[in-house]
Amino acid sequence: MELMLDTANLEELKTGMEFYPVDGVTTNPSILKNDLPFDYYAHLKAIKELCGDKRTFHVQLGAENWQDMLEEAREIWEKLGKDVYLKVPVTQDGVKAIKEIKGLGGRVTATCIYHTIQGIMAIHAGADYLAPYCNRMSDKDIDYIDVISQLRELIDRDGYEAKILAASFKNMTQVTQAIYAGAHTVTVQPALLKSALHSPLVTAAAEVFTKDYNRVREGK
Ligand code: E4P
Repeated sequence: MELMLDTANLEELKTGMEFYPVDGVTTNPSILKNDLPFDYYAHLKAIKELCGDKRTFHVQLGAENWQDMLEEAREIWEKLGKDVYLKVPVTQDGVKAIKEIKGLGGRVTATCIYHTIQGIMAIHAGADYLAPYCNRMSDKDIDYIDVISQLRELIDRDGYEAKILAASFKNMTQVTQAIYAGAHTVTVQPALLKSALHSPLVTAAAEVFTKDYNRVREGK
């Protein structure tokens, strides 16, 4: 599996990368908005530098129609390089944009997935990653476990290389359910990871072991 950080905050990214086994970073315009003011491309470049060569970086396109998406893709390639994964919302124009971007040798993370059919279209259009929005689906009474497992079944059955990058989490139960439903990758806000690893049960258990360790080292 892979773990990505769902934030554009440079300090959170530095700490997250130091402590966790991080394989990539995902952003979208709403996530980026939290860190304003900044120069857009300077901020994206700073995140890409933190990712280095070993982690993937996923940047969402903001344009609405496929022609503008392609123009934005070219701008991102020029500023950040062609190895960035372009997050494309799976709308009608988005599917066309995915085909075009893949035809030009770009990398694509199909995003805003609420329904299995969007994932199917994105997989067949050549997307590298698919991002189902788990918490947002739950809010609309859509079963994200079903959507993820159906997409995984198709990928495995027909031998596609696309990976499921489950996103939009509000608690760790959603994260673990997504992984066991078949997600290859999850993207999680560092604050959510931190809260899970600071569970009072875990902290209390570790404290008792430290106390007993100190005692056994003293030998009495
Ligand atoms: C990441 O790729 C997604 O855009 C993000 O997880 C969406 O999260 P939200 O539903 O909390 O906005």
